[in-house]
Amino acid sequence: MGLTLDYQEGQTPIDDDEKNELLIRTISTRSELDEFEQLGIEDAVAWLNKRRIPLHTMLTESFVKELHERMFGKIWKWAGTFRTSNKNIGVDKYLIGVELKGLLDDCCYWIDNKTFPPDEIAIRASHRMVLIHPFANGNGRHSRLYADALIHNGFGGNYFTWGGKSLIKEGEARSRYLHALRCADMTDYKPLLAFARL
Ligand SMILES: Nc1ncnc2c1ncn2[C@@H]1O[C@H](COP(=O)(O)OP(=O)(O)O)[C@@H](O)[C@H]1O
Ligand SMILES: [Mg+2]
Repeated sequence: MGLTLDYQEGQTPIDDDEKNELLIRTISTRSELDEFEQLGIEDAVAWLNKRRIPLHTMLTESFVKELHERMFGKIWKWAGTFRTSNKNIGVDKYLIGVELKGLLDDCCYWIDNKTFPPDEIAIRASHRMVLIHPFANGNGRHSRLYADALIHNGFGGNYFTWGGKSLIKEGEARSRYLHALRCADMTDYKPLLAFARL
């Protein structure tokens, strides 16, 4: 049984090869997939809630992968592993490791030197993460939860609100979010910072 998915603006299409690695064979629609993925994300949030994780632990490739694995590991075989195909967004598949290392090193520097306030460090990290696009799918949700982990588990602050509405479905919140990301693409982080605390 195949899975046919329709895509909204700003979503990264999943390749046929990647679709074949779906672990739950009964999923056949986008809404069933969304639901299962949401359950996985809730497991990951519960896991994060239970611990205080040192910032330097989160600034490692292994943590970045572990978070994705905890979110999507029950649904996709490739969860927690870097993508092996190029996408319409993101760096070349061979550059994911180096680019991520650059981002994590920059984050360490920002933290050690207090270059930006905590919110801005987490939001810049999230945006750079989704620009790298390390995984085949789930990069948007992973990048947002990564920012939440940095701010909550690392800095001891409140989780972000991310517009206060679901960003999975098309609508005003998602449009604002995509607009804020595009401003961040051009180094204006203010809209994304505001959106994340709306
Ligand atoms: N112009 C852009 N700049 C930065 N990030 C973007 C841009 N357009 C889309 N994105 C991000 O890419 C995500 C889509 O990637 P995808 O891997 O499908 O994540 P998810 O499955 O969690 O939605 C969007 O949710 C958004 O976070
Ligand atoms: Mg997607």
